[in-house]
Amino acid sequence: MEHMLIDSFGRTINNLRVSVTDQCNFRCIYCMPEEGMVFQPKEEILTFEEITRVIRIVSTLGISKIRLTGGEPTVRKDLPVLISMISEIPGIKDMAMTTNGFFLKKMARDLREAGLPRINVSLDTLDEEKFKQMTRRDVLHKVIEGLEEATRYFQLPIKINVVAMKGYTEDDILDFALLARTKPYQIRFIEFMPLDADRTWSRDQVLTGKEIIDRIDSKWPLEAVTRSNQREPADLFRFKDGPGEIGLIASVSEPFCGSCNRIRLTADGKLRTCLFSLNETDIKEPLRTGASDVDIADLFIEAVKNKEAGHHINDPSFIQPERSMSAIGG
Ligand code: 5AD
Ligand code: SF4
Repeated sequence: MEHMLIDSFGRTINNLRVSVTDQCNFRCIYCMPEEGMVFQPKEEILTFEEITRVIRIVSTLGISKIRLTGGEPTVRKDLPVLISMISEIPGIKDMAMTTNGFFLKKMARDLREAGLPRINVSLDTLDEEKFKQMTRRDVLHKVIEGLEEATRYFQLPIKINVVAMKGYTEDDILDFALLARTKPYQIRFIEFMPLDADRTWSRDQVLTGKEIIDRIDSKWPLEAVTRSNQREPADLFRFKDGPGEIGLIASVSEPFCGSCNRIRLTADGKLRTCLFSLNETDIKEPLRTGASDVDIADLFIEAVKNKEAGHHINDPSFIQPERSMSAIGG
């Protein structure tokens, strides 16, 4: 049974992002409030068995790519155990994880050995002071060490996600470009989206992809990379004079919803068909009250049929979802 997850716009869904915890050891300004974040009680969080069961079921519907997210996935206890359980599911051809990098020094090897081939690291600045301001933690050195350790184990280049915010990111653009030229890291700038817990997002805080590329191009000329896989959200550029790649995720200025192939499972077992969904499908309750595999599969098939056309960030009527990024899972 392949490709049962096709939405009403003809998009085939093959990618499931699984949030394994809503907790995090950082408090990034564009994601969480400094204090007072309320987390789900433990019993509301899906167990490894429940997560694995869901993935096994959706793998028969055509899901072949899994990304583990959080919160911060590495704060979930025994994460490598979950990774090895997922790697045993035959239909899963690709697995990756998005992490803030803090625990990579300690965990990179275990994660790789458990069966995780790829990671993305979120890192928004290379300046110690600004890192402290943005994550509200003074630990830039830990993330840098984590990245270096990660290059020994994971598929290269390692992708680094940089959330692009006006007033923060400008001074880092060329430092990141230099990093992309000198290390096995692909730097991907992501436009700041209205998913912050503080709900202070405004359009004028978004540093657009075009501004970033222009800045880099005027120092080190870039050329666009044409790709075979058109369903990747990132536009890719390479340096004309040597190695290194820059990615651009222009979610706000150039939405790519038309080619979206993903859905999301939150840590508390809710299926979201869009980052900006205003409603979700509960999977946890059915999982815990004896639903059959077919019942669970039907919930996914139905939800995907109603997948949103796209986000409406650019409409005056835009409504920010109740959950913020850390509770959705990026
Ligand atoms: N806008 C854009 N990207 C965000 N992320 C978290 N919050 C936001 C936001 N409001 C990024 C994280 C991580 C990825 C999962 O999403 O930095 O790299
Ligand atoms: Fe944690 Fe990631 Fe949110 Fe930062 S963006 S607070 S690292 S979940």
